Amino acid sequence: METAVFNATLPSTSPFCSLSYSSSSVKRAIFPLRRSYGGKNGILQNSSIRGGSVGVSRMMTVSASVIPVVDSRTWKFGARVPTIVDVDLGDRSYPIYIGSGLLNESDLLQRHVDGNRVLVVTNTTVAPLYLEKVTEALTSGNSKIDVESVILPDGEKYKNMETLMKVFDKAIESRFDRRCTFVALGGGVIGDMCGFAASAFLRGVKFIQIPTTLMSQVDSSVGGKTGINHPLGKNLLGAFYQPQCVLVDTDTLNTLPDRELSSGISEVVKYGLIRDPEFFEWQEKNMQAMLSRDPSALAYAIKRSCENKAEVVSLDEKESGLRATLNLGHTFGHAIENGIGYGQWLHGEAVSAGMIMANDMAYRHGWIDDTIVKRSFDILKQANLPTSPPDVMTIEMFKATMAVDKKVADGLLRLILLKGSLGNCVFTGDYDRKILDETLNFFCER
Ligand SMILES: NC(=O)c1ccc[n+]([C@@H]2O[C@H](COP(=O)([O-])OP(=O)(O)OC[C@H]3O[C@@H](n4cnc5c(N)ncnc54)[C@H](O)[C@@H]3O)[C@@H](O)[C@H]2O)c1
Ligand SMILES: [Zn+2]
Repeated sequence: METAVFNATLPSTSPFCSLSYSSSSVKRAIFPLRRSYGGKNGILQNSSIRGGSVGVSRMMTVSASVIPVVDSRTWKFGARVPTIVDVDLGDRSYPIYIGSGLLNESDLLQRHVDGNRVLVVTNTTVAPLYLEKVTEALTSGNSKIDVESVILPDGEKYKNMETLMKVFDKAIESRFDRRCTFVALGGGVIGDMCGFAASAFLRGVKFIQIPTTLMSQVDSSVGGKTGINHPLGKNLLGAFYQPQCVLVDTDTLNTLPDRELSSGISEVVKYGLIRDPEFFEWQEKNMQAMLSRDPSALAYAIKRSCENKAEVVSLDEKESGLRATLNLGHTFGHAIENGIGYGQWLHGEAVSAGMIMANDMAYRHGWIDDTIVKRSFDILKQANLPTSPPDVMTIEMFKATMAVDKKVADGLLRLILLKGSLGNCVFTGDYDRKILDETLNFFCER
């Protein structure tokens, strides 16, 4: 068994036990929660740290700070002025436009279209809501543009090779050539699939992201990770492929179900935990505003999340270290998604329980103090997210999926664990295997 290289004092109990843990469980409609503890609301703490430092693997330490990259550029007279976050990747750089009513701004979209042929990839839920509007934005004042669409079945369980083939079928049957543009209109499932299809069709055509869930607006549409699931694991097939632009119309969130909104908030919380303590404190004060869809609170959360993601991606596009930290809680989360069947729990729900498990592990190593554990628990609970894995998950189910995790290198599973004060984490294989077992034991029925 390998031992952590850090000077860690092992706590004898989990913080979940020490903070008036109640085994009676708070059962809620959606999540079969097994464990929870009754504590007061988060202890607010001021932190002077901006950004975070991350220990990568065993060798190097990368530091990054949050640099606001937002700038407002004026648009044609009478048009809405979007907030713009730039993703700086040299000749593959692109803007993220964020604002209300941006789907009405045809210029924004048309300036990023390559060629005259566009394939909108969407699904059966989003098409009736926004396909007409997007088609209008793409063609308004430009009669040369031909828009085709392919409407896929809705759901994570369709994020597979068979569904992906429908995109290729449509593009090939419609005789698209290399000068065309794919447009992803929908949540993360559509964005990941459309991006992967664009990366592979004729060895690569341009594509645009129009994310319509909070999850996709704060995370999946930015950074160029595209792909599909394999029956043995999530997102195992894919490509790094950057879009021409990301267009976030915050009005699309008005039709999003509450549960999906909370799922997106899970990733927002993640940014605060791994690298932006001020943002985390802002979230603690503004969670209710986000949940009640206050437009300015959501716009701020999206902007700040995109700034964080854009910065990480521009420093480490292909995930050699720093970018992996965006996967806090995801190793456990993917095991949950895979273990109970894709689509049973939403991605953000699984990540929420995964972050709680990762924090439990970090605490057992002595790497974080109990206030961070408690504040994370409180904020996720307040966001109506699960704070433990579903009852059906066993240690074996976790281990089976963790063995094929993309973060396994040379047979060693590396994890993202918080370490130090709020906003700091490590991506490491140097953790105590026994402690991983303790955490799995704690959260799983045996
Ligand atoms: N590429 C990345 O970097 C990255 C990052 C995070 C997550 N992801 C992936 O993203 C996926 C999860 O994304 P998601 O949470 O957006 O799920 P999703 O794409 O399944 O969308 C959630 C649901 O909301 C519906 N929907 C979308 N927009 C809507 C709207 N405006 N109004 C009403 N309903 C709407 C969808 O049809 C779907 O039923 C997962 O597959 C995950 O692996 C990828
Ligand atoms: Zn995620």
